[in-house]
Amino acid sequence: MTHPAHRIVELAPDDDLFPSWCQVWAAAGRDARPDDPPRPAQEHLALGRELLAPGGSRDGTHRAVLVDGAVAGALRLVLPLKDNPSLAVVDLAVHPAARRRGLGSALLAEARALAAALGRTLLVGEVDEPGPGAPGRAFAERHGWSCDLVETRRELALPVDEDRLAALEDAAAAAGAGYELVTWRDRTPEPLLSDRALLERRMTTDAPHGDLPVGEEEWDGDRIREHEGTHLARGRTVLSAGAVAGGRLVGFTDLQIPLAQPVLAHQGGTLVLREHRGHRLGARMKAAVLRELAAGFPEVRRVSTYNAEDNTPMVAVNEQLGFRPAGVLSSWSARL
Ligand SMILES: CC(C)(COP(=O)(O)OP(=O)(O)OC[C@H]1O[C@@H](n2cnc3c(N)ncnc32)[C@H](O)[C@@H]1OP(=O)(O)O)[C@@H](O)C(=O)NCCC(=O)NCCS
Repeated sequence: MTHPAHRIVELAPDDDLFPSWCQVWAAAGRDARPDDPPRPAQEHLALGRELLAPGGSRDGTHRAVLVDGAVAGALRLVLPLKDNPSLAVVDLAVHPAARRRGLGSALLAEARALAAALGRTLLVGEVDEPGPGAPGRAFAERHGWSCDLVETRRELALPVDEDRLAALEDAAAAAGAGYELVTWRDRTPEPLLSDRALLERRMTTDAPHGDLPVGEEEWDGDRIREHEGTHLARGRTVLSAGAVAGGRLVGFTDLQIPLAQPVLAHQGGTLVLREHRGHRLGARMKAAVLRELAAGFPEVRRVSTYNAEDNTPMVAVNEQLGFRPAGVLSSWSARL
């Protein structure tokens, strides 16, 4: 490993260097998945502003590694404030042209020092692995991180086969008689807000998390509104469907569409409360948002989703809809 002369600097979303910092992520994204539009700078900008604004549910800080004055690598550290007080989430990337020269390791050392100074003792990070040999895996292993969760990414080519979708809708409607299906866009209807918060909390306990040492998250209506605002600020619209029984929201699914380049939509969370499982509500809600997607955004070509392989019911729904495997997302952790 040769170590070029480099310098690590702190930066903020409105600094002159920030656009180059965003370009590192875009270049890393294009390198890993050439067919996907890279995350637009607006996403990093909005997230960055949210992390630095007081009063939110998480804090954060940004660093760039400079070589000859140019940004060659990017680090974002995210610190939950309402739960998981020992946790720091590490997000880092090095420009493909500047790799294997120790810059990633320098940024990781910086992340460890920052986290320790902020009183955090547990680091977690994710690695996108489109196929075997993804650099992030070798890097994480080299630094002694443990792989706690592997989720399969699946993609659905659009439009969905009409017969397949109609068959699934019919079966799901029959199994879920007694549940009302509701849809909304971007803003959870006020009467369902506190139920929606409970569902988000359950996402952190009920969805399989492998060995990831993260705890239950604290969600209330205000945090849901903050979360919704972040999506809008990032330039995403969110199509949601929910299942209602006795006036209470007992399940939801979210589908996010990046508006600047609406080519690839991202499946967000999907959850049905334990006591309401077994009625095919997950399938019914997912079919409903796919209908909304086709009606409102016919230009979207693909949907991506992530599932732990032991999440059998969710994987089965996705396979029925026609989702097919497209690599994995691994989650890693290290103790300080
Ligand atoms: C992972 C990443 C940050 C590594 O950056 P980097 O500057 O190349 O990392 P380093 O030069 O410090 O690598 C340190 C060691 O990690 C291992 N490593 C890194 N990339 C590797 C690769 N492609 N193949 C095998 N080993 C690799 C090696 O042991 C390397 O030491 P060596 O070069 O002396 O053999 C970079 O590849 C990247 O941005 N990937 C995409 C984003 C990502 O996966 N981020 C990590 C998630 S938080």
